[in-house]
Amino acid sequence: MRFTVAIDGPAAAGKGTISRAVAEQFGLAHLDTGALYRAVGMKSETEGLEPIAAAKALRPEDLERDDLRTMEAGQAASIVAAIPEVRAALVAFQRDFAAREGGAVLDGRDIGTVICPQAEVKLFVTASPEVRAHRRWLELGGDEADVLEQVRERDARDMGRADSPLRPAVDALVIDTSDLSIEEAVARAADQIEARRAGDLD
Ligand code: CDP
Ligand code: CDP
Repeated sequence: MRFTVAIDGPAAAGKGTISRAVAEQFGLAHLDTGALYRAVGMKSETEGLEPIAAAKALRPEDLERDDLRTMEAGQAASIVAAIPEVRAALVAFQRDFAAREGGAVLDGRDIGTVICPQAEVKLFVTASPEVRAHRRWLELGGDEADVLEQVRERDARDMGRADSPLRPAVDALVIDTSDLSIEEAVARAADQIEARRAGDLD
């Protein structure tokens, strides 16, 4: 059975948390596509490679680095993610993952719009910049005003780029998690998946 759940949205909206939870609940594989761009950004910086060369040379072990969740990696990711050849180098891996037997959840920025426009379920998970920055600050510490500034900068870069900008697919359900608990947000996503699976069986 092929069944793809596409979850897009801005930084710290709750995409990863929701994706991991519904993947577990429905027995689907999960791919955090942001990790690919984070790994390309950090590989490029630390190995002195051009971003396109880093994307083409990406290896599974590059996704195991300890520093991928840092703010630095997030910024590096959003810079390399604006380069069309970097994005192109990562498309086949993501589409292959999405087409796995047994189904998959992919989270990122362009899953419902570009990578998997035929996904059975499309969610756009968002929250206010202040709420998202506060969540990232709770995870990573530092100066909260700086974190908010970086979140805003990354939002602007991701929404403003010409190739695969961050935006909801026309047929995506928008879930604003600003005032939702994790349990409530996961339940909304799970309801959509359940409804679509039930519909597919009819
Ligand atoms: O993957 P993404 O960057 O969109 O966000 P995340 O890593 O899933 O969530 C960022 C942080 O917000 C995590 O620490 C979550 O536990 C928290 N969160 C929350 O407090 N309330 C929600 N409704 C969703 C996530
Ligand atoms: O966890 P968080 O939402 O902070 O970031 P992420 O999902 O790990 O993504 C890091 C960066 O990679 C984003 O700011 C985007 O610039 C880029 N990205 C992208 O362009 N397309 C994707 N499908 C996933 C991430």
